[in-house]
Amino acid sequence: MHIHSAIADLRSALQNRGRVVFVPTMGNLHAGHISLMEQARAHGDTVVASIFVNRLQFGPNEDFDKYPRTFQADCDKLAAAGVDVLFAPTESDLYPEPQEYFIEPPAIQNVLDGEFRPGHFRGVATVVSKLFNCVQPDAAVFGKKDYQQLMVIRNMTRQLAMPINIVGGETVRAADGLALSSRNGYLSEAERAEAPRLYRLLNEIRDAVRNGESDLDQLEKAAVAQLTAAGWKTDYVAVRQQSDLAVPIAVNAPLVVLAASRLGTTRLIDNIEI
Ligand code: PAF
Repeated sequence: MHIHSAIADLRSALQNRGRVVFVPTMGNLHAGHISLMEQARAHGDTVVASIFVNRLQFGPNEDFDKYPRTFQADCDKLAAAGVDVLFAPTESDLYPEPQEYFIEPPAIQNVLDGEFRPGHFRGVATVVSKLFNCVQPDAAVFGKKDYQQLMVIRNMTRQLAMPINIVGGETVRAADGLALSSRNGYLSEAERAEAPRLYRLLNEIRDAVRNGESDLDQLEKAAVAQLTAAGWKTDYVAVRQQSDLAVPIAVNAPLVVLAASRLGTTRLIDNIEI
């Protein structure tokens, strides 16, 4: 695996490499990321991963400083997964001057996660479009675990006519259902044992909707109450339309149930399609 930190070096390394498939990450890689790398292989000739902890997408009171940085272990995992090229820019490679031009997503950036993380999707869209400019991929893979992020990137790519096929990768889960996430490492032993409740509740909501329950508001409130009783602090549990994450007009449209909730200081997100 070739590793580049400078944009110019990366660009020259990617000349004549056939169809390039890109998987951006912030590192601290787990089996969920590796599954995205494996899925990437089916969409092109050269798989490029990136590791960059993007300050622009963290709020002032979020975990940018303590976000786990495990570069050597990540390189070993990527090499073992057959990744061809790793782009690992430093902050001064990617932001040599203060970033003053941004990609401003539309109203979708203010709902669900965006309501609780103001500016987050603007930071994500900006860095992803910049990474796209560096890598110039034909396709890019993003995990469905970050469902709203995947939608923001898909819409951005379409609206800005970026010639990149955006592929959604399935969420990888631990045996007890907890979605793999770099932030799971923050959980204490007791919190880790409690954490799968979120996925169980999402499944209960999915089953209820499939069985004809149409009072979505009641389902959402009941789930929040159960989480609260078990010690969680919930930002949202929401059933939304898959197409645009709007409140559903009809329950027979393709739906997705999404949640974000905090166990101690760790904020977990998850979703399942209905
Ligand atoms: O999903 C992530 O890890 C990040 O949001 C991304 C897409 C790498 C942008 O920093």
